Amino acid sequence: MTHQLKKENLPEHIAIIMDGNGRWAQAKKRPRLFGHNAGMKTLRKIVRASSDAGIKILTVYAFSTENWKRSPEEVDGLMNIAVEYFKKEVGELHQNNVKIQVIGDINGLNAKVQKAAKNAMDITANNTGLVFNVALNYGSRNEIVHAVKALIEQGVLPEEVTENRLNEELYTKGLGDPDLLIRTGGESRLSNFMLWQIAYTELLFIDTYWPDFNKEEYYNLIEIYQKRNRRFGTA
Ligand code: IPE
Ligand code: IPE
Ligand code: MG
Repeated sequence: MTHQLKKENLPEHIAIIMDGNGRWAQAKKRPRLFGHNAGMKTLRKIVRASSDAGIKILTVYAFSTENWKRSPEEVDGLMNIAVEYFKKEVGELHQNNVKIQVIGDINGLNAKVQKAAKNAMDITANNTGLVFNVALNYGSRNEIVHAVKALIEQGVLPEEVTENRLNEELYTKGLGDPDLLIRTGGESRLSNFMLWQIAYTELLFIDTYWPDFNKEEYYNLIEIYQKRNRRFGTA
């Protein structure tokens, strides 16, 4: 049975790079999309586990601005999985008071994905429970360039440019920086995810492929976070 987490030092905002679907499938001699479908099931469990644990914000990396370089079959499959996820899950997430947000360059997604994402955001817009951000067509460099352009378009003067002002133009506006970032799948890199926001985030890289990740391991990682000493540059 899964243990109870202590309430002290619970991370408010957890970010996850959900990696390893393709290798998980490959190891089973199955197509990569089989892994992505399994990954969707893991996501369902981890969203629930986050809500149960009293996490306030969960941000997951689902599709990067670089993932368009994959085969058309894989990209189409991932987009279809995104549509299916929003359609299937929105009802239950809404019941659980979860607020869904999509972060990234939404306009670069196909019409079907945009529609499903907007619908999920509209339905859950006033919910007050877990804020669940899905990073789709998200890239941190793209996000920063987008923010700088917005400042210039608004005629913001150089002396008015501050960290807070720039923060306000990021897709993650109003969310606060992640306290904990988890990457599954064995790679110790960020792959263009939240470069600005993770300045002081605690990082945990684990070997488990995303489809094999579960609530037990998730809570163990949160416990590791709870024992860490965050100094933010102080002595
Ligand atoms: C993560 O799994 C999901 C996406 C990037 C969309 P991968 O598809 O990157 O799986 P691996 O890293 O190839 O195993
Ligand atoms: C990062 O994983 C993107 C997502 C998990 C959505 P990738 O599999 O695309 O990253 P790289 O290519 O291994 O750096
Ligand atoms: Mg990968």
